[in-house]
Amino acid sequence: MTAERAFSQISGLMLSALQQAAGAREVVLFTYSDKPSLLTSIASNGFALMPDPAIIPMLPKHVHALSTARGPAVVEAGSHDAFLSSNGNVAPELFRCIAPLKVGGKLVGVVALGHREGDANYDAGELEALDLLCHYVALAIHNQTLSQTLAQRVSENLRLMASLHGFYDNALEAFAIAIDVKHVNIHGHSLRVGRYAAAMGEAMNLETSEVAALRSAGYLHDIGKVAVDKRLFGKTTSLDAEEFREMADHTVVGHRIVSGVQFPWPRIPEIVRWHHERADGSGYPDKLAIEEVPLGVRIVGLADTFDAMVSERPYREPMSLGASLSEIVRLTPLKFDPNVVQALLLQVRRDTVGSNRTPFLEARMADTIAAPDVDHLAASLQHKVTRGRLFLT
Ligand SMILES: [Fe+2]
Repeated sequence: MTAERAFSQISGLMLSALQQAAGAREVVLFTYSDKPSLLTSIASNGFALMPDPAIIPMLPKHVHALSTARGPAVVEAGSHDAFLSSNGNVAPELFRCIAPLKVGGKLVGVVALGHREGDANYDAGELEALDLLCHYVALAIHNQTLSQTLAQRVSENLRLMASLHGFYDNALEAFAIAIDVKHVNIHGHSLRVGRYAAAMGEAMNLETSEVAALRSAGYLHDIGKVAVDKRLFGKTTSLDAEEFREMADHTVVGHRIVSGVQFPWPRIPEIVRWHHERADGSGYPDKLAIEEVPLGVRIVGLADTFDAMVSERPYREPMSLGASLSEIVRLTPLKFDPNVVQALLLQVRRDTVGSNRTPFLEARMADTIAAPDVDHLAASLQHKVTRGRLFLT
């Protein structure tokens, strides 16, 4: 009973053990549920006419009698009503002996025996053997009920989580739009970074929940900019040291903001803080090297850079898609994680051959690069990372 088996197998084994212990020809095993108060058969053997499942509704007096019975009881003709009602689809008169199954004093099921071999009566010896076995059978049934309830609760929670994720997604989209309001020139930046990051995570075969986390982290990565002076966003000249420090602070401020929020994804605060870190430690605010930042940070960091390059800025025209990707490849592995860059190239390539269900790029960029150009970039990145060496195994 304690081995890893399907419950149907276990109940079959329990039936034959009970049958042997009591020398019974007929046996049926019921589980008890209290809402509504019912016995439902889960396995039976030997009875000529036993519905599957056999169901016996219970009155409080029956439950009380079974819960307080001291072990298995022989039921004489005419005394069945003390333990079982006759309102179910099986006649209680079929049973000669009834053994309540209890765990911690609570009724969890019933074993009911019919005729014995040779039609003999159940005597003290059989009742004692039955009593001993019933403790184990009761535990097995109780465990089964618990795990069924648990499975039900888990699936309910998952459904709830899924609807919450949908809710979070919508709420965070609204946040992303609000964050970009100050950035007159790059409307939709946070939304695009969220979408790019999620698509790159998908290209890297990350789990669905991690992809959802990347999308949310992308939406929120610049949330600290709500605290940056609006004037800095419209500047057409480069920022002076003080202004740069104020702008760079959006990572730390953002981290402080999201650290106080209980997100369903624990990695959001670190992504918000570190999305400007670069592989060689030249980024900010903590000057971390590539090994020190988790994959999600590298993905959102690249998605952010990519969108910044292909978007118009107050101080420059947007770069073309091809030039942006070449520049990113040129800066890899110095600044970016080569695997993440390959994921970006893969998504762009899928757009060029039309194999993305939802296009990765915005329509204005879609036709500006061809698949062989992307392949060329991917190959040259690969060559650079392996320094042209061939690894033969
Ligand atoms: Fe940023």
